[in-house]
Formats: sequence, C-alpha cells, structure tokens
Amino acid sequence: MSNNNPIGVFDSGVGGLTVAKEIMRQLPNEKIIYLGDNARCPYGPRPMEEIKQYTWEMVRFLLQKNIKMLIIACNTATAAALDELKDQLDIPVIGVIYPGARAAIEESRNLHIGVIGTVGAIASGAYENALTNIHSGVKVTSLACPKFVPIVESGEWGSPIAERVVKEGLAPLKGTGIDTLVLGCTHYPFLEKVISKELGLGVSIISSGEETARDASTILQFNEMQSPNKSAPSHEFYTTGSRRMFNRIAVELFGTEIDNIERIQTSED
Ligand code: DGL
Repeated sequence: MSNNNPIGVFDSGVGGLTVAKEIMRQLPNEKIIYLGDNARCPYGPRPMEEIKQYTWEMVRFLLQKNIKMLIIACNTATAAALDELKDQLDIPVIGVIYPGARAAIEESRNLHIGVIGTVGAIASGAYENALTNIHSGVKVTSLACPKFVPIVESGEWGSPIAERVVKEGLAPLKGTGIDTLVLGCTHYPFLEKVISKELGLGVSIISSGEETARDASTILQFNEMQSPNKSAPSHEFYTTGSRRMFNRIAVELFGTEIDNIERIQTSED
C-alpha cells in the first residue's frame, strides 16, 4: 500500500523550513506543502489561546490540500495545540518538542540540558515535561530568547547584530554546567553557528529537525503511507507574508531558487 498525498508542514514563519529541509533529505520522494504564517510571526509573545486559534486556521488551509500527515514545525504551536490537533484530526500529527527532547537525552553525558525557545514555548514548560518524562534524572535549565526570531525573519542571522544579540541572550547560560543545548525554536538553527561559537565546543547543539523527520519516516512506513513516487516531487510553499522575503531566506537555506511561493490571506487581512 502507498499514499501519494503530500505532507503538510506548518510554522509561524521561516523556521519550519529547517525541519522541511530534513524531511526532504530523509524522505526525498515525499511532496511537502509548507505554510508559514509570516504575517503574524512571532507567535512566541502571544497568548496561548491566540496561538491555538492561528494554528487551527493554518492547519485548516493545509487540510484542504489533502495532506496525509501534519508536522507542526513550530515549538510554540506544538506547545499550544499539539494535543488538541492529535485528538481532533484523523491523520498522523507530529510536533517538534518530543523529538528534540529525545535527541538531547541521547546526546547529553551529564544530563544537564539547556533549552532555549520563545517566551510562549518556555513558559509552557513543554520541554521540561518532555525531558523529565523521558528521563526523570535530567536537570533542565530553560531560557527564553525573544530577540532571536525577528533576526531570522529579517534574514540578518549572519550580521554583527546577530552576534551581539546572541551573546547577550545566552549570557544567563554561561557557567551553568549544561553540556547540551536544545534549540527549542525552529528558527534558531539559522543562528546555530553563532550560538555554537558563543557557548564553545563543550556544549552540543541539538535541533529537532532531524529527529522529527525520522519520526515522520517511521510513521509513514508503519502505516504503509509512503509515496510511491520514484522521482523528486515539486514542493509547494505558502506564506501569509512577503513572498520576496520568504524566497530570500529559502534560497539561503536550500541554496536554490524557489519559484512556487504563493501568498495567502489570514482571517485578519
Ligand atoms: N519557530 C517557532 C518555534 O519553533 C517560533 C517563532 C515565533 O515566535 O513565532 O517556536
């Protein structure tokens, strides 16, 4: 058995592209429909109820595209809406928090793990719960870094401003003894080089994309839902914001031009 329908990938903006890239690498025959709610990004500082409402709105758009699986490639939306989406949708739904937590536990030697994310994701305690559910002996040091997402959304992750903001943002983690840091926001892998330079070689950096793509692969295989395609599919990209900005960032990430980006409206347009 097989299933030729696409996989839906959603984020508040361009961060989920870091997860989409891993899915493309591990599942090259699967078509992706990507949706970024760039017009309303960042989600991080918003109340959970609002994040949930926006997430549902975006998910409804993806469902109209007949997706066979939904990947919430946003930690903040995962914290706000994953349980509800899992309960109410009849397709597999995967978030990014559990896969990230699992990868961090595998990597850490001293079981003191740092987590950085948006205000919403950190305040929800979702990472702490996931990490301590997997291993009750883990010590978690969490930190919200609200200034990182705007830097990525504006394409400035390689600039001197990025270095200064990351240095200031990560200062509370210095000397805490963490040996592993989870990038608990899918935008942060864009800043990985700067983050890694700031924390030094003694701290391993974990992003959840790789592990999330592995989960997607396992679920497709288990349910016999893999694509029968043997050639590279043509992915579709949608944004509620600027196509030009979205393309500029996607080109830097994928190293190739993306010609099929469409702008869609939100309920607030
Ligand atoms: N990429 C999203 C995440 O993983 C957050 C960005 C935002 O604040 O909208 O949490």
